[in-house]
Amino acid sequence: MARFSGKGFVVTGGASGIGEATTRSLVAQGGRVVIADVQEDLGMALVAELGDGVRFKHMDVTNEAQIIAAIDLAVAEFGQLDGMVNNAGIIGAIGSIMDTSADDYDFTMSILSRGVFLGIKHAGRAMQPNGAGAIVSLASTAGVKGAEGPHVYTMAKHGVVGLTKSAASEFGAFGVRVNAVAPGGTVTPMKSALTDNDVELITKSIAADSPLGIACMPQDIANGIVFLLSEEARYISGHTLVIDGGLTTGGAASPFYSQEAEVMLHAGQRQSGSMQVQRSE
Ligand SMILES: NC(=O)c1ccc[n+]([C@@H]2O[C@H](COP(=O)([O-])OP(=O)(O)OC[C@H]3O[C@@H](n4cnc5c(N)ncnc54)[C@H](O)[C@@H]3O)[C@@H](O)[C@H]2O)c1
Repeated sequence: MARFSGKGFVVTGGASGIGEATTRSLVAQGGRVVIADVQEDLGMALVAELGDGVRFKHMDVTNEAQIIAAIDLAVAEFGQLDGMVNNAGIIGAIGSIMDTSADDYDFTMSILSRGVFLGIKHAGRAMQPNGAGAIVSLASTAGVKGAEGPHVYTMAKHGVVGLTKSAASEFGAFGVRVNAVAPGGTVTPMKSALTDNDVELITKSIAADSPLGIACMPQDIANGIVFLLSEEARYISGHTLVIDGGLTTGGAASPFYSQEAEVMLHAGQRQSGSMQVQRSE
């Protein structure tokens, strides 16, 4: 039997990038998905391509009634809501914090923060009677450290990591797991907008920053989301899974891992005149 056979999902922002890859993966493994997005043309094209297991709901994640309507559609069409992916996002306000207007702050937070809050709230409401379900929200490496994204984006994504922990604490009592995925730079339309939609340039730039030397693709993130939605993750909750090729754990290789490190060790021994470091050879 397919991994998600008979299961129903909502993927916000499911018409593009990471959300699209997640939708494709879920459907390929037997799941049925409501794509909840503002991009009607892209969403309807995916429905036409992927067939009966997919529905499109035109909705804005900042609008509570529209979030409820997308979840209600999944319950009506698929029997129940088994998984919710709070993925819709934008880069939002950029520039110095001193030049960021309160209106730009509100707009950015409404999508990246309020949208996730509402998604978690109403997915929990739909899942509680079933005593089961899994929610995955999109954070970012900007949600675990500074200078990985614009200020308001960074604030919102740290909030996603926090709400993931507190909601997991509440929802565990009725069998619902709540997790987040924190991607590093990933080749999607949102990211390539930063290079005037030059996909090759953004791909090279992400690869150049990565300790792995390759660019992260939407499927790399979808794989983590789908794992957290699956039964294999049944004991994982409140967790933020960073998927960035190791960038935030250390970035470029440290000089301590190079030939020069050997030189530094021996220089240290000469200076101290005694063996300060025990070697295992
Ligand atoms: N691409 C990256 O480098 C990267 C890195 C870290 C985190 N993320 C996060 O991953 C998520 C997906 O981003 P992506 O890179 O795939 O971008 P994307 O632009 O390809 O897809 C985002 C989708 O969200 C939809 N959306 C935007 N505002 C919406 C709203 N108000 N209501 C409903 N839908 C809306 C868009 O129409 C689009 O289909 C975002 O939350 C983003 O912050 C992306």
